[in-house]
Parts: sequence; C-alpha cells; structure tokens
Amino acid sequence: MTTPADQPIIRLQGVEKWYGNFQVLTDINLDVRAGERIVICGPSGSGKSTMIRCINRLEAIQKGRITVDGTDLTGDSKAIDTVRKEVGMVFQQFNLFPHLTILENCMLAPMRSRGLSKEEAQERAMKYLTRVRIPDQAGKYPSQLSGGQQQRVAIARALCMAPKIMLFDEPTSALDPEMVKEVLDTMIGLAEDGMTMLCVTHEMGFARSVADRVIFMADGKIIEQGPPAEFFDSPRHPKTQQFLGQILSNH
Ligand SMILES: Nc1ncnc2c1ncn2[C@@H]1O[C@H](COP(=O)(O)OP(=O)(O)OP(=O)(O)O)[C@@H](O)[C@H]1O
Ligand SMILES: [Mg+2]
Repeated sequence: MTTPADQPIIRLQGVEKWYGNFQVLTDINLDVRAGERIVICGPSGSGKSTMIRCINRLEAIQKGRITVDGTDLTGDSKAIDTVRKEVGMVFQQFNLFPHLTILENCMLAPMRSRGLSKEEAQERAMKYLTRVRIPDQAGKYPSQLSGGQQQRVAIARALCMAPKIMLFDEPTSALDPEMVKEVLDTMIGLAEDGMTMLCVTHEMGFARSVADRVIFMADGKIIEQGPPAEFFDSPRHPKTQQFLGQILSNH
C-alpha cells in the first residue's frame, strides 16, 4: 500500500473505545502526514498507550475508523497483517527474547514474516545494529546488555522489518537517567532520516527539538495540540497548563 503525497499516512476518524463500561477513547480525530514527528503526552490513564496501540491494531476500536497507509484497520485480518508489517513498535519494556542472541532477536521476524533468507536477515540485522551503534553486542544475550543497549536493540529489531511508521510508548521511562540520552539520540537519528514517528514520552526536551506537533491527551480525548514552541510557551487549556506545570517542576 502507498499513500498519495496529499493524503495522511495515518488517519483516525471519530475513534471511540471502551473497556467494558469504561470509555477509554472519545471522538479521537487525528491525521498524520508521512514523515511527521508527533509527541503524545498527558496524565497517567489518559489513553495515550491505548491510542497508539489501536494504530497497529494491538487493540480494537468499537466506533470510528482508523486508516494506516491506505489500509482500513476495521477490515479483515489480512488488513491487520498488512499494517503490522508497516508499523514498528517500541515499548517501555524491551520485550526481547531472553534465550536468543541480539542478532537472533533481530533476525527472527524478518525471516518468519518477511520471507528473508538467513543471510539476508543477518545482513539487515547488522545494518540496523550498526545504526543504533551496538554492532559489537550482536553475539550477546539480552541479559548481558544495559537497559539503554537493550532498548536500542528493540529499536533495531523494529527497523529490521522496514516499517514506514514507528510507534514509541515511553521508550525511555524504564531506563536509568544516564541511558536515556543514548536512546533519544537513536530516535533523533530516525527522525532526521524522515521516519514517520508517534512517540508517547514525557521527555520535553526531545519534544521541543524533534516534534513537529505535540498532542496533549486527558480523559481519553485530544485536548490540545500544536507545534512545540506554541504548545509549551502558550498552552491554552487549563488541563494542559496544569500538566505542564507539574512536568516542568519535576525536572
Ligand atoms: N486492558 C484493559 N482493561 C481495562 N482497562 C484498561 C485496560 N488497559 C487500559 N485500561 C484503562 O484505560 C485507561 C487508559 O489507559 P492507558 O494505558 O491508555 O493510559 P496512558 O495514558 O497510557 O497512561 P500511562 O501514562 O500511565 O501509561 C486507564 O484508565 C486504564 O486503567
Ligand atoms: Mg501508557
């Protein structure tokens, strides 16, 4: 699937989601351009993770429509497979397979679901491990790496699937402070290469310097959004002001 230049690569229209009686997403409307870098922030429980998990169909929605690179996610399971191949995701917990080496972690999915040969998968894995600056760790097991290194493996592993879009859900919040920068630097590199990125993060320095747009969620809704300078310097909604006040006083 491809998206014409004038069409958004991701489109959420009137998205609503419930867990039982609890409405977790309410009337979410969002268009993302190819190459756009979006940071999503907001209080705990506001629906940030749920929203981005809906974009690669880790979660189903009950109302509205989500289209990713021309594929309607409300469609059949084939549509879901198509989208999963185009959307990479990196979580707070790295979710590496502990019994596989770093190299094997990166080779597995491209061989299984992209049909790459062992040699092709290995070449690609080394390319992206080099890109995240840990090619020398390829033969180790995840437990032998630092948290920051493991998260960079998780990013390399996602990139090995050649995704058009990368989703990040608080990729640095489980890391010790001294390892945050190396992961953010990797993400900055991806942004500079033109990757379409949606990042849930409270790293406001990253948001300011990398994001094209910052989205603020509260109570399952998008309350406010704008370019970082405008968003941080003159937030309009009281909930945004309160949230930014708390975040900034913690840093
Ligand atoms: N599987 C689930 N079943 C029921 N409720 C859920 C489930 N997953 C999330 N929720 C609820 O949905 C709401 C939104 O959760 P979500 O994880 O999307 O929030 P978040 O903005 O990512 O929060 P955080 O900043 O803490 O990660 C929360 O109230 C949460 O308790
Ligand atoms: Mg979350």
